[in-house]
Amino acid sequence: MTQEPARAPLSDDAQASGAGEVRPRRTIRELPDELISQIAAGEVVERPASVVRELVDNALDAGASQITVKLMAGGIRQILVEDDGCGIPLEELPLALRRHATSKIRSLEDLESVGTMGFRGEALAAIASVSDASISSRTGDAAHAHRLDARSGELSPAARSVGTSVEVRELFFSTPARRKFLKSEATELAHCLESVRRHALSRPDVGFSVWHEGKLVEQLRPGSASQRLQDVLGDTFIETSREVDLQIGPMRVHGRAGLPDAARSRADWQYCYVNGRYVRDKLISHGVRSAYEDVLHGSRQPTYVLFIEIDPERVDVNVHPTKIEVRFRDSR
Ligand SMILES: Nc1ncnc2c1ncn2[C@@H]1O[C@H](COP(=O)(O)OP(=O)(O)OP(=O)(O)O)[C@@H](O)[C@H]1O
Ligand SMILES: [Mg+2]
Repeated sequence: MTQEPARAPLSDDAQASGAGEVRPRRTIRELPDELISQIAAGEVVERPASVVRELVDNALDAGASQITVKLMAGGIRQILVEDDGCGIPLEELPLALRRHATSKIRSLEDLESVGTMGFRGEALAAIASVSDASISSRTGDAAHAHRLDARSGELSPAARSVGTSVEVRELFFSTPARRKFLKSEATELAHCLESVRRHALSRPDVGFSVWHEGKLVEQLRPGSASQRLQDVLGDTFIETSREVDLQIGPMRVHGRAGLPDAARSRADWQYCYVNGRYVRDKLISHGVRSAYEDVLHGSRQPTYVLFIEIDPERVDVNVHPTKIEVRFRDSR
């Protein structure tokens, strides 16, 4: 066996790669805005369900009481999210689509105790950079709505009641490599529905409806937390789980935990929220697993819906671009 000699550090005249060709140095340049957004979109927008998650987050932050999601072709051809929230004033509409523009935080201090779902000021810009998007919005004191076309920047009068509609068409049409990763329409639709259900579980006070190809596929009316659990997860989950409500130090944990017999082969009935935000946290899932350790055999997965309420200053939500991970300041 012949061993390759250790390579000497590159000198000016010896920037040779293994193949022997010279690799010219390229100038450092600032990237164009649209490419920056497309790169950000790579982290935040993986599939139609990611767009649904971001738009529903925004609707909830706007104080909506009814959110309607209309999809075509599993969300690949079209995603329309309509809310009856506070709306966006005409003069702020163009800002909503700008990168790093947000109404939700103003300072590091705000970030450290953030109470809204959004705070990065990036979602709409990212989505608009990989689709054909438009926003129509109307505030309470506006005479009518306005529509902003993200591609052309054109503003025009529109008709709608107070609230906001965001329409996203042809996701990834400008980034065909990304589009190739999408699965079948049925699979993408299932992910979109799951995304709505995750929000719906933590916000029983808000009504949700989802339409696909003009047909109503999910309708959740506002009501009590237990009614919402039953509407989303069905009678079986309620019958095979018990209520949990614990105060553990500075943290309140409430929700429902499934009986050992109700454990499933897949980890699909595991919902965990920190201050209303759906998270997938290793620390929490490990904690829950160890709680079931003595009563669950093999690879059976416990079922649970747990809401953790904790002082926002004790948890860092600025960990992952999609905000699905959090970090507890005192993880023990
Ligand atoms: N449905 C909506 N109703 C009212 N205002 C909205 C709505 N959607 C977006 N906005 C406004 O547009 C801004 C930009 O939205 P965007 O989702 O891009 O960023 P964000 O929610 O502030 O942060 P993040 O990137 O973390 O989602 C928001 O801060 C908000 O002011
Ligand atoms: Mg947002």
